[in-house]
Amino acid sequence: LELQMNLEEIEKGGYDHFMLKEIYEQPRAIKDTYRGRLLADQGIIRMAGIDQNMEKFLNANRIIIVACGTSWHAGLVAEYIFEDLARISVEVEYASEFRYRNPVITDKDVLIAISQSGETADTLAAIKLAKEKGAFVFGVCNVVGSSIARETDAGAYTHAGPEIGVASTKAFTTQITVLTLIALKLAKAKGVFSESRYHEYLTELETIPSKVEKALQSNTLIEIIADVYKDSTNCLYLGRGYNFPVALEGALKLKEISYIHAEGYPAAEMKHGPIALIDEHMPVFVIATKKGHYEKVVSNIQEIKSRKGKIIAIVTEGDEQVRDLADHVIEVPETLESLTPLLTTIPLQLLSYHIAVMRGCNVDQPRNLAKSVTVE
Ligand code: G6P
Repeated sequence: LELQMNLEEIEKGGYDHFMLKEIYEQPRAIKDTYRGRLLADQGIIRMAGIDQNMEKFLNANRIIIVACGTSWHAGLVAEYIFEDLARISVEVEYASEFRYRNPVITDKDVLIAISQSGETADTLAAIKLAKEKGAFVFGVCNVVGSSIARETDAGAYTHAGPEIGVASTKAFTTQITVLTLIALKLAKAKGVFSESRYHEYLTELETIPSKVEKALQSNTLIEIIADVYKDSTNCLYLGRGYNFPVALEGALKLKEISYIHAEGYPAAEMKHGPIALIDEHMPVFVIATKKGHYEKVVSNIQEIKSRKGKIIAIVTEGDEQVRDLADHVIEVPETLESLTPLLTTIPLQLLSYHIAVMRGCNVDQPRNLAKSVTVE
């Protein structure tokens, strides 16, 4: 037993938990995801699975993304990226719903299955169904040689390295990185992107690991904020556009490991329900980065404030306007709008982590949850 304990300590590499280690691994993990693929100075993105099947993607009526849990959130981010950059219509489905819905699928559809473990039963079943109907199936997995990696027609690995913590962290940001690379390749091939815009993306993508590093530097501040809100019973997470899925993911992380009830919502949808919950006991985490509906999110923040809600805002470095309104602000570096999820996710991961630790929860193995769900 002692030997096993020591082995685990070694594997944690000096961190108290695997989750924290994996949060801190993200700059490297993202770099590993694009290493050998992204050749920014040459204007090339190399991905064999896409190159060999380019016609399938270019002729697709639409892309259907299926996944579960955090991977489903990465799929939602990808929907914004594919539609915005590559102008391809995308639908994102929970694999568990898709498989039993008698969905309309044809051989003109491309299905992308996203899965960290590559073993999720519902996602596997959705793949089998889509293949039966003649769709081309592409996998985005982390675990090499996993069932989903084997069942798909082609794919791209995330190369995040083993993820041990049940709550997914580096798998999420590396999935978004792979999907961004794919969207950029398709945008280029379709000719919907100007050369300069394409190059701007490639160059900016290379700066993301150092910007994630910068975002991680807010850890001490985040610990202080976590201490203020650790005894909350409910939390609301709001975001718009690219950061709406980040709000969902932030809420999921908190639920999973701290057992605090949390909901993610598109900020503008707040007025159709959740606003009724807001009072001085409700912490509201708002993603309010400069690019993407900033002014609209600011007015959502004002609505929360006038109802005495507590506001914790994720903002772009140097932001003044939200700082004046919010109870706490956490800064992330500036980047292109479609890359903001890679940065705004980081403080929300750290926040959940610290709150869970302060509440004495088993961070790496939360109750009732499994790392990979191989049964229905
Ligand atoms: C479980 C895990 C989650 C994960 C989900 C999907 O619920 O606890 O962290 O997001 O399964 O797993 P997958 O391996 O398919 O990404």
